[in-house]
Amino acid sequence: SAESNKELKRLVGVAAAGLVRDGMVCGIGTGSTVVFFIEELGRRVKEDKLRLTGVPTSFQSKLLCRKYNIPTLEIQDCAELDLAVDGADEVDPDLNAIKGGGAAHTREKVVAAMAREFVLIIDQSKRVERLGTAFPVPVEVIPSALQFVTARLRALGGEPELRMGVRKDGPVITDNGGMVLDVRFDPRTDLRRIDQELHVLPGVVETGLFYDLAKRALVGRADGMTVETL
Ligand code: A5P
Repeated sequence: SAESNKELKRLVGVAAAGLVRDGMVCGIGTGSTVVFFIEELGRRVKEDKLRLTGVPTSFQSKLLCRKYNIPTLEIQDCAELDLAVDGADEVDPDLNAIKGGGAAHTREKVVAAMAREFVLIIDQSKRVERLGTAFPVPVEVIPSALQFVTARLRALGGEPELRMGVRKDGPVITDNGGMVLDVRFDPRTDLRRIDQELHVLPGVVETGLFYDLAKRALVGRADGMTVETL
């Protein structure tokens, strides 16, 4: 149920906050699981006098850091981070992931790459044998390349769909001023190759495919928590 899933998200969010040591500069992802991570960091800042600098990956996470008195740095002021913690939409057995359900994957990937350790926090429902089976691949594009990239994605065998706003007429605009195409592929598609092809397409900002970035995943399960290390 949604309620028990929420409990699993809380479990891993709190556990991930336990990885943060005094004085660390820590990347802070985006999404409903990360909310619990930030909340617990806030508690430790207040009650344990933890000193920590957060580097949030979205406007939303930055607001939460403000709320919990967690000092922040902008991503552009950093070149290296001690740790980064983030949710994901799908995670495979090698800890490769699809992200971008919240349209924040471009900044999230920069922060993940900067971190000495990148840790995923997910509930059990995000585990998949193969990426892209249930969740489409989010691709951020600059608005002027929308038609061009859409056509190229179709040529690569994808079915791109422009992500639309929920309580807004028109497309979702990312924190970077980009738009997002959610792309479905045949389940047998080699997504690692697709990822490489997309990275040489002009107008593509970033994909939501996170290969070889996470070293660890904290997985909330109904019977407790498993830690998977790569
Ligand atoms: C944001 O763009 C995403 O990458 C999120 O990290 C992802 O959607 C996970 O969010 P939840 O923790 O809300 O499932």
